[in-house]
Amino acid sequence: MRRSVSEIVAQMTLKEKASMCSGKDFWRLESVRRLGVPQVMVADGPHGLRKQAGEADHLGINDSIPAVCFPTACASAASFDRNLLRQLGEALGQECQAEGVAVLLGPAVNIKRSPLCGRNFEYFSEDPYLTGELAASHVAGVQSWNVGACLKHFAANNQEYHRQVASSQVDERTLREIYLPGFEIPVRKSQPWAVMTSYNPVNGVYAGENKHLLGDILRRDWGFKGFVVSDWGAVNHRVNSLKAGMDLEMPGCRVTDKEIERAVLTGRLSMKTLDEAVRRIVAAVLRFSEHRSPAVFDRQAHHHLAAAMAEQCGVLMKNQGGALPLAPEDRVALSGGFAKAPRCQGGGSSHINATEVDDALNWAQKLGFRTEYAEGFSAVSDGRDEAALDEAVRLAGASDAAVVFAGLPDSWESEGYDRRHMRLPACQLELIDRVCAVQKRVIVVLHCGSPVELPFADKVSAILCMYLAGEGVGRAEARLLWGLANPSGKLPETWPVRLQDNPSYLYWPGDGRTAVYGEGRFVGYRYYDKKELGVRFAFGHGLSYTSFAYGPLRLSRARTRDVEGLTASIEITNTGRVQGSEAVQLYVAPEKPGDRPLQELRGFEKVTLAPGEKRTVRFKLPGRAFAVYNEALGGWYVPQGGYRLRAGASSRDVRSEAKVWVQATRQLPFKVTMNTTLGQLMEQDALRPLLQKYLDRYGDGQARTNRSAVAAEAMNEDMQNATMYESPVRALRSFGGVGGMRLQAAVWYLNRKLKKS
Ligand code: BGC
Repeated sequence: MRRSVSEIVAQMTLKEKASMCSGKDFWRLESVRRLGVPQVMVADGPHGLRKQAGEADHLGINDSIPAVCFPTACASAASFDRNLLRQLGEALGQECQAEGVAVLLGPAVNIKRSPLCGRNFEYFSEDPYLTGELAASHVAGVQSWNVGACLKHFAANNQEYHRQVASSQVDERTLREIYLPGFEIPVRKSQPWAVMTSYNPVNGVYAGENKHLLGDILRRDWGFKGFVVSDWGAVNHRVNSLKAGMDLEMPGCRVTDKEIERAVLTGRLSMKTLDEAVRRIVAAVLRFSEHRSPAVFDRQAHHHLAAAMAEQCGVLMKNQGGALPLAPEDRVALSGGFAKAPRCQGGGSSHINATEVDDALNWAQKLGFRTEYAEGFSAVSDGRDEAALDEAVRLAGASDAAVVFAGLPDSWESEGYDRRHMRLPACQLELIDRVCAVQKRVIVVLHCGSPVELPFADKVSAILCMYLAGEGVGRAEARLLWGLANPSGKLPETWPVRLQDNPSYLYWPGDGRTAVYGEGRFVGYRYYDKKELGVRFAFGHGLSYTSFAYGPLRLSRARTRDVEGLTASIEITNTGRVQGSEAVQLYVAPEKPGDRPLQELRGFEKVTLAPGEKRTVRFKLPGRAFAVYNEALGGWYVPQGGYRLRAGASSRDVRSEAKVWVQATRQLPFKVTMNTTLGQLMEQDALRPLLQKYLDRYGDGQARTNRSAVAAEAMNEDMQNATMYESPVRALRSFGGVGGMRLQAAVWYLNRKLKKS
């Protein structure tokens, strides 16, 4: 019989325990053979397996074994499809089993705060709910193979600039509502084996030493049971990080092992804390090693899967006059280096050694379509080649349609640094402009991990955004362009008209010591909506070659309580002539938003329908769908009131609405002090009648005083009222002549009345 994890830990020496808390080397964990703890390894993630067999590094410098590159998170998020992420996770889990990898370092669930973040391509969305739901499916898929998933980077790591030292300054409500649900949802739903802390401090405390993040939130509030690992080289103070709940340091570091030993021997670190960390790590090692499956994975099958997934991720942003799909008889001019050398992933630690990358040019020809190609510009830089431009323009003018394959060169978007602007290379913009002058039917295909400015958007006929869709991208592009597949992706982020419109613009990227999240909760559409700002393409937008009709939105109840929630359902009909899929979105909009966003995504479901087919889509909305985080309460709270539920094809294309009244069972804590305003007292049901009586008396007194016309003009009735409601209790000393003792007694009395209510 094998020993339990506790028995194993009990028999380990201090030295063994300390060294278990950091890797053996770059990718492998320590083993304790005498106690049956074998050696296992971890590898990047998140959209493919980056297993380094030779020289190791965390920056993508040295080669990794050949593996399949699936769509990166920015692309897979556009699928709005939990099943796709589940499948993607399963494929990765299988590859991990086949290659003996115990934990895959992904998914990465940081919020896309600014389009400039170099690592945006690894992240899902600007929206926490979409991020969290998709990540939960990814994690469940990986772990279905008894391989651990590792959510990263916890937390508030939304830029590359000074990512190892700049403190992210974020208020608690913003953290809980925007930057944490991407972690919270998969932790609660799928229990990842591991969570990786980010490099940066959060509000002055390194994420890996942050008791609030790791202890209060991750473990206590969400019930995380796995182990916490540092990002590679992120450890600042090893002993403090262990105390805070960061179990495993990577890569291996013998220096800090000694620090741990010394801290235990001198009483600065309890053996209990160390044991707890070791227990969590050993549990994961055994979980993997005891459930090894003799998986072999079929690379070709996974390549096909990657291509099929890429089809689900392409977003048809614009399609004027049915410019797409192209017809088999059309003579089509292809240009742009990305047609031949598509960018399908980004640089850095997630870079996959993809051996078979499909390109659109080859696939269009393979499928028998009539195409000719002139490069026009290179995919790797902003070099201007006059002859190449001329040739591409000439070809475009002599064809029935022109497709320009544009995008960000690899070196413009990578882990390690941020973009400096949001533009495409000038040579690409020039070619698109010149092609538009000679050709009416111009289609632009985009390859990028995050929004770029699209100055040509009104000029071209169609735009297909592929993001960075993995190694099957070219086949997917050919099939989507010629209508063998129907686009169904939706934008997982807003595409602003220009960088300056982005809410983080005033604060980004900070002074190097701090990154101030001054826009607070108003990230992405939450900001653009509230500002009523025009955008290039809205969050959730994406067209299809068919059309969908939305029936009325029906609710299981018109009134509900925060503890109950409700179900919303809507019938969707494919009213066009081809099969298609629609990601139906559900937004919750408070009738009195106050300081809240106007609407927030709280549900999405993707349906595939044949022409004429209908299906009812259902959304389950728990109380949390209406909630805000309240710091005083230290928890979630639903403001009582009316809410509109809005079902739409995008955040700005709402097709059907319904109203619900939500009753709150949880009250915000309220205590009367000398500094509570009379207005705040009036908001309390239990105090209002009493206060009203007092104010009526006071108001009568005021009315009786004979005021001159000048005085009345200086202070009208509205101002009088406002002044009164804005006055704190203590002001009654000066204006009401009430003595200090009497006021103290009144405060005590009001609090007692509140308690009794
Ligand atoms: C990245 C992580 C990655 C790790 C190991 C770090 O630089 O931030 O995402 O998992 O390296 O390669």
